[in-house]
Amino acid sequence: MTNSGAARPAIRAILAVGNPARERELREALIAGGIAISERCLDGASLVERAQSLDADVALVSSDLHRLSPATLLSLREARLPLVLLAEPADFGKYAGLAHLLSSRSSAGEAAKTMRQAAARGAVYAASPGADGGRPGGESYARGPDVEGRVLVLLAGKGAPGVTTLAIGLAEALSERRRRVVLVDADLRGGNVVPYLYLDPSRGLLGLGVDRYGDSGSLPVEEELQDGPGFMVLAGIEKPEAQRSVTAELATAAVRRLRELYDEVVVDAGEIVGGNSSAAAESLIRAADRVLVVAGAGLVAAWNAQCCVRYLREELGLPPELLGVLLNRREGRAGYGPREVEQALGLPVLAVIPEDRRAARRAIVEQLPLTVIGGKAARGLRALAAQLTEQATAPARAGKQRRWPLRLRPTAIGRK
Ligand SMILES: Nc1ncnc2c1ncn2[C@@H]1O[C@H](COP(=O)(O)OP(=O)(O)OP(=O)(O)O)[C@@H](O)[C@H]1O
Ligand SMILES: [Mg+2]
Repeated sequence: MTNSGAARPAIRAILAVGNPARERELREALIAGGIAISERCLDGASLVERAQSLDADVALVSSDLHRLSPATLLSLREARLPLVLLAEPADFGKYAGLAHLLSSRSSAGEAAKTMRQAAARGAVYAASPGADGGRPGGESYARGPDVEGRVLVLLAGKGAPGVTTLAIGLAEALSERRRRVVLVDADLRGGNVVPYLYLDPSRGLLGLGVDRYGDSGSLPVEEELQDGPGFMVLAGIEKPEAQRSVTAELATAAVRRLRELYDEVVVDAGEIVGGNSSAAAESLIRAADRVLVVAGAGLVAAWNAQCCVRYLREELGLPPELLGVLLNRREGRAGYGPREVEQALGLPVLAVIPEDRRAARRAIVEQLPLTVIGGKAARGLRALAAQLTEQATAPARAGKQRRWPLRLRPTAIGRK
């Protein structure tokens, strides 16, 4: 603990709080308490940059800072900058070992005190929160090394029904539920995850040349991952011409490695049309624990989804219990409802995501997941994430059980 004498040198701090009103309040109190603010950062990426280049003693960071993911916190820990993280006590378990934790409702005085202690202790953090931690129900954020993560492949037939939008939103919604998530852009026609999320196109699947197997025989996939909003991303290929570089062997090795590292590997496999799909995409579909077929609610969209499902079942030989449908962009009660789609496709509809043009447009402009924007489509995605998380964490039950509940009812689709 430092001496509280008058000659104590000022502590230089980086302030990365995001909310302007809260920042002002903290800033004034910290300065009055002898802490000099050397820099302020508005997002996770600039904080990492400053942490590596600046000679600060400590950083005060809010857990809701823009683009602050667990990977960002890991980079900050590597930069050896002591970090005080303001977070909801219910989330302390998630950040254990990554920062000194303080309730986001703490006063500026408490923040100053913790920052002084952090500057003295350095970037060494308790693996689990202490008495003030409020760790929720003993639940662990990290997965045991022997438990493999789950591969969720999202795909569709012709017609762009929203695969990428839902894959990104689902990845974010799962990460909100404390699942460690990586999103893989495996749309080999030229993926869109990079522009949807403002990422670096030069890092991703293509960086994993087939000659990059390490001594252990596994691909160094971690080197090609980048921070997304709450989850990690393995970007895809920008140009369809590069498709040939992504072999089936490479794609499956990457996903095999990622499922060792993450709870959920969400794959955007794009459009799957019989006769046109690549060997790499098909091998990823075969490696999936769940295949989520995105379908639109109109007649043509349902027709396209039917073609896709037929191909998955008859050509790739996927069993029905592996498959579920996400009915996207339903406008009110227009078009086909979930019961009719279930009947037409012979598969359960796991979620109905309503049309939400405003939120979808904002998500594109702000380069954020639909779930971060909020609205009715975001709510549908969160409900889906809750359902999937429940299935992943439920204790295995004895006996045979359908992976998805299937309720078939009479319908009009496909009638002559
Ligand atoms: N629930 C929704 N409400 C409103 N707009 C949506 C919704 N879902 C997706 N969209 C919009 O639909 C368009 C296509 O979405 P997206 O790019 O995700 O489709 P895709 O199936 O991945 O297409 P592609 O085949 O080009 O990869 C985008 O403009 C997106 O914002
Ligand atoms: Mg897409």
